[in-house]
Amino acid sequence: MQEWSAAEAEAGPDVVASDRDAPVIATRALTKRYRGGQLAVDGLDLTVPAGSVFGFLGPNGSGKTTTIRMLMGLIEPTSGTARVLGRPMPRSSRAVLPHIGALIEGPALYGFLSGRDNLLRYDAADPTADPSTRRTRVGAALDRVGLTTAAGKKAKAYSLGMKQRLGLAAALLQPRRLLVLDEPTNGLDPQGMREIRSLVRELASDGTTVFLSSHLLDEIEQVCTHAAVMAQGRLITQGAVADLAAGARGRLVVTTPDVSDAARVLKEQGVADVVVAEDRVTCEPPDRELADVNAALVTANVRVRGFGVERASLEDAFVALTGEGFDVAG
Ligand SMILES: Nc1ncnc2c1ncn2[C@@H]1O[C@H](COP(=O)(O)OP(=O)(O)OP(=O)(O)O)[C@@H](O)[C@H]1O
Ligand SMILES: [Mg+2]
Repeated sequence: MQEWSAAEAEAGPDVVASDRDAPVIATRALTKRYRGGQLAVDGLDLTVPAGSVFGFLGPNGSGKTTTIRMLMGLIEPTSGTARVLGRPMPRSSRAVLPHIGALIEGPALYGFLSGRDNLLRYDAADPTADPSTRRTRVGAALDRVGLTTAAGKKAKAYSLGMKQRLGLAAALLQPRRLLVLDEPTNGLDPQGMREIRSLVRELASDGTTVFLSSHLLDEIEQVCTHAAVMAQGRLITQGAVADLAAGARGRLVVTTPDVSDAARVLKEQGVADVVVAEDRVTCEPPDRELADVNAALVTANVRVRGFGVERASLEDAFVALTGEGFDVAG
């Protein structure tokens, strides 16, 4: 891999903005072993395409936050490399970070200040932020995350979900090329989660690449174009969400009041893994014409109410890849 000279690494933001088709995040064998020996991230090769909504998925303790901290230059990797917006991290933090809006686990807030004053203060600490537009931008960010009515309340009186929204608002104070959101829906109720999802879609349609971590499979499936799956510090798979789910086959589902006859006919038709549950019989889809299988059921007087292949979910893919459920790592 090409190495950057010190001069390039120190060059201004124009260099960062130059190649819009290059991956926004690329890591090679990125590894973090904490003092005390915990191997939190193990040889990670991650590629985040420009313009994607990239879901970084993994159970608790799988290394998501540790990876994000390395990407943001907050901690040094033990070995391996990370490039963000084409530049090596943490070395190019100064050039890269102004282009990134970030929400990382437990946003730091001043409890004695209101939500609005927290954002004003946060923005004032950013040398690239224009003071003349500060109040307007803070107001717009509060509005985007649904905190306008609570903006005057002291942050210490905020619920976890409200703190999370305020952290997100801080990431939205300026237009960014990349948003890095660590568990953005943590602490939110279902309505709040829906709002964040639609906000993420909105930001993505403006051209911002969004990298978000989650331990919720269906959340990733609903909002992300691409995903990577982590387990115990290792990357299990990454790619377009549609491809990941397609890698696992969905199941053929027959809905019928005649489940035992249906199961028998399906077995006679040579399909594998026939499972009966209430008024449904499911099995692996056979390689042959499905219409013939349906016809065989009907010919055997099975009353078929529903017949079709259910789309495989990311969870099916995860289970197929790991042979386990999506549970918390030890
Ligand atoms: N500062 C630290 N010192 C030592 N070990 C740590 C430290 N931070 C995290 N770990 C360990 O590293 C592993 C990965 O943790 P990390 O926080 O990156 O996981 P995560 O995927 O973000 O989990 P969660 O979904 O719970 O946020 C865990 O086993 C954790 O206990
Ligand atoms: Mg975490």
